[in-house]
Amino acid sequence: MSKEIVEKINKLRKEKNAIILAHNYQVPEIQDVADFVGDSLGLSQKAAETEAEIILFCGVHFMAETAKILNPDKKVIVPDINAGCPMANMINVRQLKRLKEKHPDAIVVCYVNSTAEVKSMVDYCCTSANAPKIVNAIDPKKEIIFIPDKYLGNWVSKETGRELILWNGFCPTHRRILPENIIQRKKEHPNAIVIAHPECIPEVLEKADYIRSTSGMLKVVAELDAEEFIIATEIGMLHPLAKKHPDKKFYPASKIADCPNMKLNSLEKLLWALEDLKPEVIVPEDIREKALKSIERMINIS
Ligand code: 13P
Ligand code: SF4
Repeated sequence: MSKEIVEKINKLRKEKNAIILAHNYQVPEIQDVADFVGDSLGLSQKAAETEAEIILFCGVHFMAETAKILNPDKKVIVPDINAGCPMANMINVRQLKRLKEKHPDAIVVCYVNSTAEVKSMVDYCCTSANAPKIVNAIDPKKEIIFIPDKYLGNWVSKETGRELILWNGFCPTHRRILPENIIQRKKEHPNAIVIAHPECIPEVLEKADYIRSTSGMLKVVAELDAEEFIIATEIGMLHPLAKKHPDKKFYPASKIADCPNMKLNSLEKLLWALEDLKPEVIVPEDIREKALKSIERMINIS
């Protein structure tokens, strides 16, 4: 069945000149059929340079929106329009307006896990791969508001030595990973290296040997001689790691770190999206133009 679906997808993507982009957390079948698999930064860079007419984005809504902001003349479609990110919905335009009013001179840095509307009100966008670099590029005399992820923000503050005004947002999936999970996995695999995503809580990050974005994880594993790794992030990440490093062993810090939003997409829905060229992601032009500035500033710095 799945072979038939893949054949149909391959035929349609050629006919319709479509590129399939997939995040590292997508189910293995989607990652295996994608033209490019990556982290939020890599995917937005791919979206910025593609020649394809259609972008089929397999991830969550804010990622597809970012692709649309960078490609206004292309059609951006997704397998499931309901695949959103709860963290992105933890701050809205009104809340950000109020926060900015409290700190009128502050520069606003916004994690890419946010809505297009929120991005249209900020100075810089960032991803987990480049957040410290973006903050370091800002005039040290300036106050900085960092939204919406307080855990990422807390880590960035430690990395850069800059005080940040944080918002109370977080990723519910990464928050499921607990320090006791790391202690238990270390007991089971004492030689394993611990790699954690900066969306994890500080108590988990303290126990990590390396803190990396999802693609940063792939890079650091390639650089190390170690054979065993404990991975503290969404469990979809185990697939690209095992695929790239079949000789190494990867253990999830917690098997319940499974993002239900990322998993709303399936191979069947991907095929239907290609057949019907919908659901389509739309960003109103006035919002797109403003949001683009913060994304372009990020791409230029990184
Ligand atoms: P990265 O792939 O950029 O590390 O982001 C992780 C994430 O939570 C995406 O929703
Ligand atoms: Fe959002 Fe967390 Fe899911 Fe990423 S893993 S899409 S941050 S809820």
